[in-house]
Amino acid sequence: MSSTSESAPDAASLGTSPAPVQPPATVAVAGATGWLGGHVVAELLSRGYSVLVLARASADVSSLIGPHVSVARCDVTDPDSLTTALGGSGAAAVISCVGMRSLAVPDADIFRLLRNGTANLYKAASDCGAARFITIAEGIHRTADGTVNTEFVLNAAREAGLADARTLAAEHATAAAPAIVALDISFFFKDAEKIFNTLAASRDPRKTVEASLTLISGAWDVRINPISGRDIATRFADCLIDPIPTSGRATVGGPQTYTFAEFVDLAGAALGISVRHRSLPRPLARALLLVARLGGALGWRKALAAHNMLAFLLVLAMDRSPGSLVGTPGGQDKVSELFARLATERCHGDGAPGSNGSGR
Ligand SMILES: NC(=O)c1ccc[n+]([C@@H]2O[C@H](COP(=O)([O-])OP(=O)(O)OC[C@H]3O[C@@H](n4cnc5c(N)ncnc54)[C@H](OP(=O)(O)O)[C@@H]3O)[C@@H](O)[C@H]2O)c1
Repeated sequence: MSSTSESAPDAASLGTSPAPVQPPATVAVAGATGWLGGHVVAELLSRGYSVLVLARASADVSSLIGPHVSVARCDVTDPDSLTTALGGSGAAAVISCVGMRSLAVPDADIFRLLRNGTANLYKAASDCGAARFITIAEGIHRTADGTVNTEFVLNAAREAGLADARTLAAEHATAAAPAIVALDISFFFKDAEKIFNTLAASRDPRKTVEASLTLISGAWDVRINPISGRDIATRFADCLIDPIPTSGRATVGGPQTYTFAEFVDLAGAALGISVRHRSLPRPLARALLLVARLGGALGWRKALAAHNMLAFLLVLAMDRSPGSLVGTPGGQDKVSELFARLATERCHGDGAPGSNGSGR
């Protein structure tokens, strides 16, 4: 069992610490067909839990099928489907790894999924008698005082969903409400890989949104630590048995953290290319963020397909919080190892590190 680091108490912690949910209990996982959800399902099965996969009708669950896995079709934006899926399932805990497949969607869709979806899932978890409800918080971005920065739309939507769930819990007759843990995750290896591959493909960081992190945040102080899906899954599973943190939140990522500039430098070093950094003056970043928001409000989303990502990067760029995402030992080694492995794979794949095998 790992230690769980906590952020400042936010008065929203609810539920007395329930008994640990031990194997072979059934744990329901929403978003199980996603990247993170897949890791969580594998970790739960390795610990001896049974898993109830909550998946949309359209989702391919073939890779998840196996002993101790059952599947119930539902959509977290459809409360009735959740009632049917979870009712009588005997799930002792519900984990949500649900997320947007694309950021290039209207804010209303993000809120429908991350706000309403979280509250719907919590209500269904509560109705089916689950003891614990564990969900992702975006976590990657906090303000200087340590609170979640809700200027970022994904944060805003998830925080609103958590608040709704906590209101539901408070309205519930005391002991019956599932205890809530929101897991703040620093940054996925998946994204680290994406940035690495983008850099490798273009060799010019200015050409891509992901790599333009260097432009936007080169001189500033936000720090991240990419973490593997397996390590995140370990923390999710620990939340089934650990005491519920009084803040209702747990973090995972680190302890070694990087500015985006350092991070892209590491990727560049593994590729054998040097990355030039240019800092965006803060007032210009602020102006760009306003334009991105205005564009979003006026429906320029097709032109600004990465509107949310852009807003996210700019919000990050304007923040000077030192970044306090901590938790998993060996963060630095793992990031270096990841980039070294990717560089080797590229070498073996097409004979030249940094060349683009994807035809970009
Ligand atoms: N990148 C980071 O560093 C980071 C850090 C912290 C948190 N996060 C959050 O973590 C989330 C999960 O990441 P991921 O990479 O695992 O995402 P992913 O691979 O896109 O998976 C998203 C999952 O959500 C499911 N889903 C979407 N809409 C649904 C709905 N209406 N009802 C039920 N299930 C639904 C998807 O199911 P289908 O198979 O049916 O599409 C899929 O299983 C991200 O979206 C992000 O918000 C990311």
